[in-house]
Amino acid sequence: MKTLIILAHPSIDNSRVNKQWEQELIQFPDKIEIHELYKEYPDWNINIKYEQQLLEMHDHIIFQFPIYWYSYPPLLKKWLDDVWTHGWAYGSKGHKLKGKKFGAAISIGDKKENYLPTGSVSFTINELIAPFKASVKHVGGIVLPYFAIFGASFQASDEEIKQSAKDYISYIFTNSK
Ligand SMILES: Cc1cc2nc3c(=O)[nH]c(=O)nc-3n(C[C@H](O)[C@H](O)[C@H](O)COP(=O)(O)O)c2cc1C
Repeated sequence: MKTLIILAHPSIDNSRVNKQWEQELIQFPDKIEIHELYKEYPDWNINIKYEQQLLEMHDHIIFQFPIYWYSYPPLLKKWLDDVWTHGWAYGSKGHKLKGKKFGAAISIGDKKENYLPTGSVSFTINELIAPFKASVKHVGGIVLPYFAIFGASFQASDEEIKQSAKDYISYIFTNSK
């Protein structure tokens, strides 16, 4: 069974990190399926049935996105609101995501040391992605550790981004078992 990547980048054509990550992902078409929300739904009119079927066909799902205002881009939030419905994802008759593994691959503009209680952001990434983790828990899914690159806006060199793309693939394969 393939790993499903739910990719949410509002302007991937102008991206350095997520574009590079995607270029690495497409090298593994038999193992990884990429689903780009902003390309699929430029009008934000999400095909709920299609999205639910896609999720039902996968047990390992990664949300890939750049961190925007210490959160994920808005179409991913809408996707969650629309697709993870009562009676399908949760509620007494909603168990379709139960037991599935969910991870997150995040590009983070700021430096790692700022994402510490003592840093300028003062929250860790694990704290900031609490809504994602609580949502997965709510539907009976399994939360995997997140994967990230820090300094994605300016500090990270092309070499570091290339290496992170390789590390991302290892992260996917390690957690897909
Ligand atoms: C609207 C917007 C909000 C952003 N907010 C944050 C933020 O809260 N924290 C942060 O570290 N970087 C922030 N950034 C920087 C992005 O995370 C960074 O540009 C992105 O991860 C780089 O990935 P890319 O090359 O794939 O676009 C923001 C960028 C934009 C455009």
